[in-house]
Amino acid sequence: MLINIKFKDGYAEFINTNKLPSKYEVIKTKDPDRLIQAIKDMEIRGAPAIGAAAALCLALVALYKEYKSNEELFELLNQYSEKLIKARPTAYNIYASINRILTNINVKEESLAEKVLNIALKICEEDIKANLKIAEYGKDLIKDGDKILTHCNTGALATVGVGTALGIISKASENKKLFVYVTETRPKLQGSRLTAWELERQKIPYKIITDSTAGFLIKNGEINKVLVGADRILLSGHVINKIGTFTLAAISNLYRVPFFVAAPLTTLDLKSKIEEVKIEERSPEEILKIKRYWLAPKKAKALNLAFDITEPEFIDAIITDVGIINRPVQENIYKIIKKY
Ligand code: MRU
Repeated sequence: MLINIKFKDGYAEFINTNKLPSKYEVIKTKDPDRLIQAIKDMEIRGAPAIGAAAALCLALVALYKEYKSNEELFELLNQYSEKLIKARPTAYNIYASINRILTNINVKEESLAEKVLNIALKICEEDIKANLKIAEYGKDLIKDGDKILTHCNTGALATVGVGTALGIISKASENKKLFVYVTETRPKLQGSRLTAWELERQKIPYKIITDSTAGFLIKNGEINKVLVGADRILLSGHVINKIGTFTLAAISNLYRVPFFVAAPLTTLDLKSKIEEVKIEERSPEEILKIKRYWLAPKKAKALNLAFDITEPEFIDAIITDVGIINRPVQENIYKIIKKY
């Protein structure tokens, strides 16, 4: 099994997804600032993967940074938590990891560093398990012969385990014939670089389409299910995910094509209201340039929003690690929360 991010022999180890598909590069580090850089530059990306990276970052702080007392370590962990949130502010999994670590340690603990590491390792292990459960719950929504559209990358390269939406597709493809339409996902091309790479490895048939092709295929009945991941899900049922998700959901709804979201509970933000969610705005250069080559006049301006928000009315089901939240998702989220 491909493990995108892990802690091994005292190092945090991750696949640099910016280099794929041309190069498979694994980076090892003991430096928490290097992990923050990796999150910021999207060497590590995908909500569950950056949640795991945030947890490992705090573990590296506890293991290798200099401090004289538990109080000082606490201070450092808080400082690094701030830096992590600034690196990528939208995906809730970063906040979930930080909250879990900071609320489960106390200054009186004797081996505080070990405690932080153990929680971080648990966060990683639990994501692997959550992915498997999502795949298990979700696989039955997929029928033999389905033509599924997926957006961005939600596979092993976006999580610690087999992935969320793409994990479902992989599981379903074990005994069903499927075809996957992969959106390029401008500007960072997570679809054509990463999802295609994962589907290739798994020998699942697919075609890459430009983002703007999707609506036309949905209208023409060429796609009969849309399956995406999430960076944050609010109690109101709003789903924050890769820019373009909202458009796909709206068009799917218009043509009555089922629109499914897959995510672990670590993506669920029980507190924030929609207006409190920060939508990450990334550098215009990601749109205007590819490597050294300009795609637009050098003085052109660009708005590079990384995520958008989809209304709960457009969502047929949210597949989580504790079960499927069916339409109306807003009402049914409450039922799931009450149980866990
Ligand atoms: O900007 P990215 O590549 O981190 O965005 C990733 C997505 O939007 C995914 O759909 C989401 O994180 C879920 S990954 C299982």
